[in-house]
Amino acid sequence: MIDLFPVLGPLLRSLDPEVAHTLTLRLLEAGLVPRLCEREDPRLRQRLWGLDFLNPVGLAAGFDKNAEAVGALLGLGFGFVEAGTVTPRPQPGNPRPRCFRLPEQQAMINRFGFNNDGLDVVARRLATRRRRHRPGIVGANIGRNKDSTDAVADYVAGVYALAALADYLVINVSSPNTPGLRALQDREPLAELLAAVLAARAELCLKRTPALLLKIAPDLTTDDLTAVAEVSLEAGIDGLIISNTTISRPGLDGVATAGETGGLSGRPLFEPSTRTLADLYRLTGGRLPLIGVGGIASAEDAYAKIRAGASLVQMYTALIYQGPRLIRDIRRGVLELLEKDGFATLTEAVGADHRQ
Ligand SMILES: Cc1cc2nc3c(=O)[nH]c(=O)nc-3n(C[C@H](O)[C@H](O)[C@H](O)COP(=O)(O)O)c2cc1C
Repeated sequence: MIDLFPVLGPLLRSLDPEVAHTLTLRLLEAGLVPRLCEREDPRLRQRLWGLDFLNPVGLAAGFDKNAEAVGALLGLGFGFVEAGTVTPRPQPGNPRPRCFRLPEQQAMINRFGFNNDGLDVVARRLATRRRRHRPGIVGANIGRNKDSTDAVADYVAGVYALAALADYLVINVSSPNTPGLRALQDREPLAELLAAVLAARAELCLKRTPALLLKIAPDLTTDDLTAVAEVSLEAGIDGLIISNTTISRPGLDGVATAGETGGLSGRPLFEPSTRTLADLYRLTGGRLPLIGVGGIASAEDAYAKIRAGASLVQMYTALIYQGPRLIRDIRRGVLELLEKDGFATLTEAVGADHRQ
């Protein structure tokens, strides 16, 4: 792969973050970003939810909110790509500026507020992919409109619109930028929401049923996490994504940009999100596959999430600072770390920290 990032990266980072992001998506869509041509190593393969993941490194939600460049993103070497968050109706999100880089901390703060094209448009894009039998695992992350009066109905609409078009669906109740959204993580509202979305999925009687996952915040108390684990197991969802961005500002005392409202991602999120991941692995007894996300910037970080309980990992912010080469580096690096620890496959390493 020719790596254009040493040239393109500084150029993109000299632009406003949102302008740089839109430009990156257009380059990807236009096929101007080289594909990774590297053999998938069988030791990294996993079968989860009836899906064959060729490698465990995924793209987190928010990068391709409208499923515009899914194919090109998979071509960069990701094992799976998550589109969204998508809300029933299109919405513009919060006023700009709404995304801020913290380069010294390798972090970002965003308060986009679910700017997206809405379910109809995104469904059309994903349907085109399906019709053309494009390879690769694609998830769809769904949310509620800011002005919605019935959050549950919004998620059910998301399931109806996208269940037949995605390999997995994510119920996002953890973005900090939609007022009231995170309250859906509380025991009763969560139980009601999960029952409704699972019922909607069952009603569709699909030939290929998408897995249904819940994405949670890293800011939950131990009691909250216990409730999430119990409700998730009782309801019978298929997995958890841990975590979204944080409203806390760990280690950012004295950093001016840290005062911006929004969710913090990147390196400072690694520790709290990995701790939450380990807690949920323990609380669910390893019975639910977990996707670990938050602050992954190296193979060591990805491997730490795997040992803490993640079957799969995702990233976003580190790609802004390191470019797509990081995907290949993580795939190679995780293989070396598995070998060093004497694991024959990735599956053997999942949750290893809890077995010592
Ligand atoms: C600019 C930006 C936009 C995001 N938008 C979404 C979103 O729409 N839905 C969602 O579930 N997560 C969203 N996220 C959160 C990421 O999916 C991920 O959970 C978080 O950034 C932690 O991973 P990272 O530290 O590797 O970035 C967004 C993150 C960023 C940086």
